[in-house]
Parts: sequence; structure tokens; C-alpha cells
Amino acid sequence: MMSSKNVAASHTEMSQIVLPNHTNTLGNMMGGQLLYLMDMCAGVVAQRHSNRTVVTASVDHVEFSSPIKLGDIVTLAGHVNRSFRSSMEVEINVWAENPRTGRKTASNRAFYTMVAIDEELRPTIVPTLVPNSPEEQSRWEAAERRRQLRLVLAGRLKVSDAHELTHFLLENVNKADV
Ligand SMILES: CC(C)(COP(=O)(O)OP(=O)(O)OC[C@H]1O[C@@H](n2cnc3c(N)ncnc32)[C@H](O)[C@@H]1OP(=O)(O)O)[C@@H](O)C(=O)NCCC(=O)NCCS
Repeated sequence: MMSSKNVAASHTEMSQIVLPNHTNTLGNMMGGQLLYLMDMCAGVVAQRHSNRTVVTASVDHVEFSSPIKLGDIVTLAGHVNRSFRSSMEVEINVWAENPRTGRKTASNRAFYTMVAIDEELRPTIVPTLVPNSPEEQSRWEAAERRRQLRLVLAGRLKVSDAHELTHFLLENVNKADV
């Protein structure tokens, strides 16, 4: 197993046409269908990064910002924001494309925590992620804060040990958009 990898090594894009059996009575893609595709995309990204079998440990910040219509091309793009010991934060962005006009609309985003497991189904070490651009570096830093927040909320980390998160919150206490 490689000890470190870059973001491009596991970047994944998947597309599919929205068919009648993917939609609700309004002709919009059902949230559950989309979450299934997002989970699949996150799994592919995490397996490519870790070269291991992976499981989904948590999903957070799922936003359904605009509906995806019957007949649209739905595209998912996933990348690793940061890897930890056995876990990886994978960001999935989704957009819908009208095949007649070519117009693309961002529709969803979520952060998946994927855990690599070994042959005995125990969590196992994954390669370090090396950020290669200011944007990747910024995502890498934000991933640590989100990890601390989700572990605090899951009762797995004490607030007093969530240093990056508390520092960030105190620094930005008066800002609306961070
Ligand atoms: C995810 C799972 C392997 C973690 O097992 P565990 O015994 O808690 O193992 P650990 O305490 O060593 O945690 C392993 C990693 O998971 C992370 N983790 C565990 N629970 C988490 C949660 N709720 N949110 C985010 N990360 C979590 C830990 O932080 C740790 O990360 P690290 O190694 O990078 O520091 C285990 O809970 C599991 O198998 N869950 C079911 C997964 C599944 O079936 N998913 C499909 C959904 S149906």
C-alpha cells in the first residue's frame, strides 16, 4: 500500500439519466435514490484511495438545494478531502444537466466518512492525503474541523479535545459566512 496519495488519484465522476423509476410523483428524483448513488460514489473514491474494502461510518451536511428532474443527466463528483487513521472524509457534489439545453445546476453536496477495513473487518490504516493546491489545502483543513464536530456530536470526542474546531469557532464568532 502506498503511504501517501494525492486527490487526483481517487477523484471519481459518475453520470446517469434520471428514469421514471428514480422519481417521485412530482417527476423529481427521489432523495433516497440520490443518496444511494452518492454512497456508491463515495465508496469508489474511498476504495481507490485506500485500496481496501470500505464501509460508510457517517454522512453529514447533506443538502438538497434544487430538484433533479426526470430525463436530466445527473452527475456525481467525489474526492477525498482528508484521510485520518482508518477513515477518510469524502466530499460528493452533484449536479443536474438538462440534455436539451446543456444547462447544469448544482443540486446536492454531502460529506461521507468512509472507513477502510481489513480481512478481519477491523478498521485499518489508510494512505495520507497530500494536498497539492491552495483549494485542496483549504478543504484539508476544513475536514479536520468537520471531523471534530461529528465526533463530538457522536459522543466520541470531548469538546475540550476539539482544538481546531473550537479555535475556528472563536475566531469566526461574529461572521455569518465561514
Ligand atoms: C465504522 C466502523 C467500522 C467503526 O468501527 P469502530 O469499532 O467504532 O472502530 P474505531 O473506533 O476504531 O473507529 C474507526 C474509525 O471510524 C471513525 N468513526 C467511527 N464512528 C464514527 C462516526 N459516527 N462518525 C465519524 N467517524 C466515525 C473513527 O473516528 C475512526 O477513524 P480513524 O481511525 O480515522 O481515527 C463500525 O462502526 C461499522 O462497521 N459500522 C457499520 C458500517 C456499515 O455497515 N455501513 C453501511 C451502512 S448500512
